[in-house]
Amino acid sequence: MKVTKAEFVISAVHPGQYPKDALPEIALAGRSNVGKSSLINRLIHRKNLARTSSKPGKTQTINFYRINGELFFADMPGYGFAKVSKSVRAAWGRMVEGYLTTRDMLKGAIQVIDLRHPPTRDDVAMYEWLTYHQIPVIVAATKADKISRGRWPKHLKQVREGLDIDPGDSLVLFSADTGQGKEELWTAIRRLAKS
Ligand code: GTP
Ligand code: MG
Repeated sequence: MKVTKAEFVISAVHPGQYPKDALPEIALAGRSNVGKSSLINRLIHRKNLARTSSKPGKTQTINFYRINGELFFADMPGYGFAKVSKSVRAAWGRMVEGYLTTRDMLKGAIQVIDLRHPPTRDDVAMYEWLTYHQIPVIVAATKADKISRGRWPKHLKQVREGLDIDPGDSLVLFSADTGQGKEELWTAIRRLAKS
């Protein structure tokens, strides 16, 4: 997909701030520091429109990016970050759950998984939760640049089996560093946005 315009719209902490454009929205879910914001930047070929960090917990609000005036990416805080207090974690959980369960324009989620490792318990819980709520998921297995090409199939299988991915959901091998999987991911996103 040719991205001609990508705009940061708002860092929202409560529903009143969510965009009122009524465009399709695709949420980014994934473990803290897995590479959600980097994935957005690669998709829209911008270096740092979505703020990234080598420290986990960078994204603490739901950040909306409007792409080509056609759709929104909703970049969400990551889960599984032990260093925040329980009460902060609970508040994040409520915000994310509230968004995911009540947002009319939400067409689906991209769940970002680290290709190098088996999905964590939090990854599995997130995927099950999304599936239970009938939210279509694109699983993006990222950081593919960190392992050799020859080992990709084995690691993809590990992700597919670890999450028990539904046949209706896509699994895309991705790297924010090299751009591997970018077009395949866009194809899956466009399909979701139109659904
Ligand atoms: P939170 O907002 O804290 O939940 O993190 P995030 O999931 O948005 O992760 P972010 O995009 O900030 O990336 C975290 C770190 O991983 C950064 O140091 C990135 O440079 C690195 N990273 C992200 N994607 C890739 C990738 O595909 N390959 C490599 N090698 N590094 C990556
Ligand atoms: Mg982030």
